[in-house]
Amino acid sequence: MLKNNNKFKAKYLSHQSSDPTCSIEVNDLKKYYYGKKYYEKIKALDGISFQVKYGEVFGLLGPNGAGKTTTVGVLSGLITPTEGSVFVGGYDMKKNFDKVKALIGVCPQETRVFKFLTGRENIEYFGKLHLMTKDQINEKIETLLKLVGLEAIDRKAKGYSGGMLRKLNLLIALINNPCILFLDEPTVGMDPRARRSIWNFLFSLKSSDKTIILTTHYIEEAESLCDRVAIIDYGQLVAIGTPKELMKEHESKNLEEVFLKLTGRRIIEGMEN
Ligand SMILES: Nc1ncnc2c1ncn2[C@@H]1O[C@H](COP(=O)(O)OP(=O)(O)O)[C@@H](O)[C@H]1O
Ligand SMILES: [Mg+2]
Repeated sequence: MLKNNNKFKAKYLSHQSSDPTCSIEVNDLKKYYYGKKYYEKIKALDGISFQVKYGEVFGLLGPNGAGKTTTVGVLSGLITPTEGSVFVGGYDMKKNFDKVKALIGVCPQETRVFKFLTGRENIEYFGKLHLMTKDQINEKIETLLKLVGLEAIDRKAKGYSGGMLRKLNLLIALINNPCILFLDEPTVGMDPRARRSIWNFLFSLKSSDKTIILTTHYIEEAESLCDRVAIIDYGQLVAIGTPKELMKEHESKNLEEVFLKLTGRRIIEGMEN
């Protein structure tokens, strides 16, 4: 679902990337890790290219070890790529990461919160890092809480369940009202009810002007939430398109079948979670 908000585009388009309608542009991105022995080269990303338009919900779908987290890591500046160029919000990550930082929110795969602080204190802490005033932070927290309920917000995060920690990380990622949001496995380990509530929340974000990059290995999540998906496997892009297009092209009834036809394996095979 693409939005046509010219004001939004004008605000963020100071473009150096080749296509000004792109929120994200990834060109031949490679990330290699080297093992102890010289011949041990792990190709976490082996030359992937794709573009994400402004306002799109874009899914990175693939099995464990496919390279989803590495992609999000590079796009959010946490991982330095081996080769390739990346533009986020029109800015070259290598040259203008300081500009990119103000545009993005990241919800990492491994939840990162201070366990000895309450949920609210955690959010306040990150709000302050974004130089927000106390009033701005409080106002934003109230708005966000209406959308993502977190009853235990005033309890220490130490006692939170996995689902609660994920919700807290999502609230932290949203505190500075980022226009580009990275969500790495946002519902992993959640019970069906909590998952449904996050899906509803993400649906509500679709009508805001946010570009969302979401990684998942849940087929239904990708099918129902994403405007387009990129299927990745062993650090390579194996297919890209709307879920409907991909199913039609590969004569499949769901994205799992598409993946199976393309790779001979099932996405869920070998998943830990
Ligand atoms: N820091 C690292 N050192 C060595 N190998 C890594 C490192 N991070 C990721 N990898 C490897 O890169 C590949 C892609 O990992 P990742 O991006 O986490 O996949 P996904 O998120 O799709 O499960 C995997 O083979 C993983 O083992
Ligand atoms: Mg991952």
